[in-house]
Parts: sequence; C-alpha cells; structure tokens
Amino acid sequence: APRIVVLISGTGSNLQALIDAIANGTLKAEIPLVISNRSKVFGLERAEKAGIPTKVLALKPYKDAGKPRTEYDADLAQLIVAAKPDLVVLAGFMHILSPAFLDQFPATPLINLHPALPGQFDGARAIERAFEAYQKGEIKHTGVMVHRVIQAVDGGEPLLVKDVEIKPEDDLAALQERIHSIEHVLLVQGAVMVLEEEASKKKQASV
Ligand code: GAR
Repeated sequence: APRIVVLISGTGSNLQALIDAIANGTLKAEIPLVISNRSKVFGLERAEKAGIPTKVLALKPYKDAGKPRTEYDADLAQLIVAAKPDLVVLAGFMHILSPAFLDQFPATPLINLHPALPGQFDGARAIERAFEAYQKGEIKHTGVMVHRVIQAVDGGEPLLVKDVEIKPEDDLAALQERIHSIEHVLLVQGAVMVLEEEASKKKQASV
C-alpha cells in the first residue's frame, strides 16, 4: 500500500481521521511514521494506539545550540525520506518549512490542511482570527482547504476548498467544532485524490 508520513504538532484529530479512513478502507494506504515537532502531544498517543511508530523532532534544541533552522529542516527531511513516503501530509503541523526542506524530496507530493479559505488567515490561530473578523462584520463565512505545499505559508495550489458558514448563534467553540468535522472529511479526500493521481502517473509511466 502507498505510504503516508504524517506530521503533527498537537491533538491529532486529523491524523485520527486518516487512521480511521485506512481502517475502514476509504483510504488505501499505510502510515509508517508520524512525526511531531512537540513532545507529549495527544496526537502521538493516537499514533501509538494505532501501532504507528512515532518520532519527535523539536526545534528548541537546535535553537539552544545556535544551529540554523535549515539544519532542523534538513534533519526533518531525512527522517521523512528514510520512511520512503508516497505522500507527506501536514496535519496541524505548526512549523514553517524552509526551501531547503522541500528540495529534499522533490518527487514526493506534500499536502497541508488549513482551516481557512485560500489567501485568508495564513499561519496560526486561523479559526480564532476568522471568528474575530466575523464579529467585526468583515467576513460572513470562512472555510477549510487542502493544498499542495510550496514555500509560502499556507500558500500552494488548493486541491480542495470547502466553504464554512459562520452562524449568528456561533461561539468560537461551535465554529471550531464545525470546521474540525469538515477538516476530517476533506483531509481524507485530499489524500485519496493525490494518491490516485500518483498511481495513475506511475501507470502512464510504465505504459
Ligand atoms: C487543524 O485545525 C489544522 O487545520 C490546523 O491545525 C489544526 C490541527 O488539529 N492547521 C493549521 O492551522 C496550519 N496552518 P488536529 O491536531 O486535531 O489535527
């Protein structure tokens, strides 16, 4: 089965969506490795519970040793490459990757999940920022996207985009919950899509 390496930083509910989709056959793949840039996050427990090997690679020891960020990114890339992925998924991975990182596996597709519409609320706290903008009357709806990773933060070509309505009765928690449940579906769809694309590329190449 195609191999998906998943990068996380937190709760890992989207990692769980991938694990569940593999278990129920929606996603025909395996996850040989989960990497987190934070130790002790719940996502690591989810991986361990599913029998998936995990690695933690934190930036802080690099910073403390005065090493450049590119060294961290190179080591991270090495971990990924060693797991021989057909797809790399950033599922709530809160670290901006340098160009040096992406250069290490140019042939492997990499996708990211972001809880906002293309071009809006890049980076951290996207849902909170969208909710604040809604309260100020600046936006009426927000969204979720799965996009290919390029060097710009939350940039890349969107593969899947879904509008999410913000309702007058919503509080932040309600909006977060609605967005997360959409993310869990969209990320699986994105992974299925990219793996199918890769498989058909390989088929064509062998004709
Ligand atoms: C998700 O909402 C994901 O879209 C977001 O982090 C959360 C991770 O949740 N990612 C970003 O904001 C990327 N800029 P999870 O750990 O429960 O999957």
